[in-house]
Amino acid sequence: MEKKFYKQLIENNKEWVASKLAQDPQFFAKLAEGQEPPLLWIGCADSRVPANEIIGAQPGEVFVHRNIANMVLHTDMNMLSVLDYAVNALKVKHVIVCGHYGCGGVKAALSNQSIGIIDNWIRHIKDVYRFHKDELDAIADEKVKFDTFVELNVKEQVLDLAKTSIVQACWKQGQELYLHGWVYGIDSGIVNDLGVNISSNEELEDVYQLKF
Ligand code: CO
Repeated sequence: MEKKFYKQLIENNKEWVASKLAQDPQFFAKLAEGQEPPLLWIGCADSRVPANEIIGAQPGEVFVHRNIANMVLHTDMNMLSVLDYAVNALKVKHVIVCGHYGCGGVKAALSNQSIGIIDNWIRHIKDVYRFHKDELDAIADEKVKFDTFVELNVKEQVLDLAKTSIVQACWKQGQELYLHGWVYGIDSGIVNDLGVNISSNEELEDVYQLKF
């Protein structure tokens, strides 16, 4: 059974290649020449939130980083490397942090149950809870509270992106770079743009503003 599933993946790939070539015989030849995506996507690793598919993007149109609960951690070399390459080499103009309602990582942060090593990753989401404790504790409805926490976590990650030396140096050089926060609805397919569009470090609290 499992072997059948695996073999099917290879078959699917062959069919996909054939369909792409049927539309454009040069499809892969053009992609092989290089990439110039206008967008970096930082999303959740959740299998139901496929970056390219939900924004109708073709190969070559979006640079993607995904982890549990779409976190932007300043000590994460993986995230920093993706961000640096996207901003300084690819010169993307937009970065979207895309969370999603029903996020398991965010839900885990609401609980006290230990899951394993992931507890240490989830801890950063618990910090977001602590920053917004008064607002969140005032919400009686559990679903509304969960949804609000998902949204607040995305906003916090957008701010954390803006705080990075990479993004601030880019703005300092006069490079155009816009940061956005989205929350995707798994049960609707619809994106909720949270409207946290940041394009300058002057929008950060004073203590975070770097001078170069
Ligand atoms: Co998630």
